[in-house]
Amino acid sequence: MSSIALLRVRGLSRRFGGLQAVADLNFDAWSGEVLGVIGPNGAGKSTTFNMIAGALTPSAGSIEFDGQRVDGLPTHAFAARGIMRTFQHNKPFPSMSVLENVMVGMHTRIACSLWQVVAATPAAKHAQAHAAKRAAELIEFVGLKEWIDADVATLSFGQGRLLEIARALAGEPRLMLFDEPAAGLSPSECLRLADVIRAIAARGIAVLLIEHDMRFLMSLAERVIVLNFGRSIAEGTPDQIRVDPAVVEAYLGDLGALSRA
Ligand SMILES: Nc1ncnc2c1ncn2[C@@H]1O[C@H](COP(=O)(O)OP(=O)(O)OP(=O)(O)O)[C@@H](O)[C@H]1O
Ligand SMILES: [Mg+2]
Repeated sequence: MSSIALLRVRGLSRRFGGLQAVADLNFDAWSGEVLGVIGPNGAGKSTTFNMIAGALTPSAGSIEFDGQRVDGLPTHAFAARGIMRTFQHNKPFPSMSVLENVMVGMHTRIACSLWQVVAATPAAKHAQAHAAKRAAELIEFVGLKEWIDADVATLSFGQGRLLEIARALAGEPRLMLFDEPAAGLSPSECLRLADVIRAIAARGIAVLLIEHDMRFLMSLAERVIVLNFGRSIAEGTPDQIRVDPAVVEAYLGDLGALSRA
């Protein structure tokens, strides 16, 4: 971890009409760490992610990324700066191979223009070859090497999620936001996903992880922030969080969630 936070969130708030979905949130995230975000349903976790990913404008507060304010910038500027997220529903490009799907994720980064591709200039060919090589590395990284030429339609749900992660990595993120990535996965797919997330952090990428599966989250996150009714009620290591009275109180309706961790 470097000594300067990659992400600094200060006073972050979001209203929906009369509802305060997120209220005065303050936290930092560092390169190479996995920061867990938990809280009961409706606590404001996804709304927080939507603001950090640039999909939703905060009502108040600031988001600083790599020393610069990003809140208020257009949505595409967030991805361009290296803030990526995976979506709850896989949306691969149909009728394309795994490799082609990852290469599409790379196009914002390929240093040649569309007309060069169409004209098949040497520069374009070189860029395409380079992109294919990088895409193949990412596909291997997430464990889909054997499916590299497969039609995306033939992938299982869990493999689709890994593809989605490879596509996000193709955009060269420095911060990745995962909103319930283990949802719908089998136990063995969860283990695979945990390995991939760990390896992503080991590459120096900051990972923010929302997850209801406590065992999954606690095995990955070095620090955890707990939200309840839009506010942060606790922050600490998984061991600190598990015994925090405010957290136990917030989860009273679902005590099993914490004990299963
Ligand atoms: N676009 C929206 N318009 C109006 N209300 C919204 C909108 N998005 C979220 N909310 C409300 O804001 C609150 C926080 O929602 P959010 O989705 O951030 O919670 P969450 O912690 O992600 O919950 P879950 O664990 O169920 O995914 C909820 O009361 C929700 O109904
Ligand atoms: Mg949510």
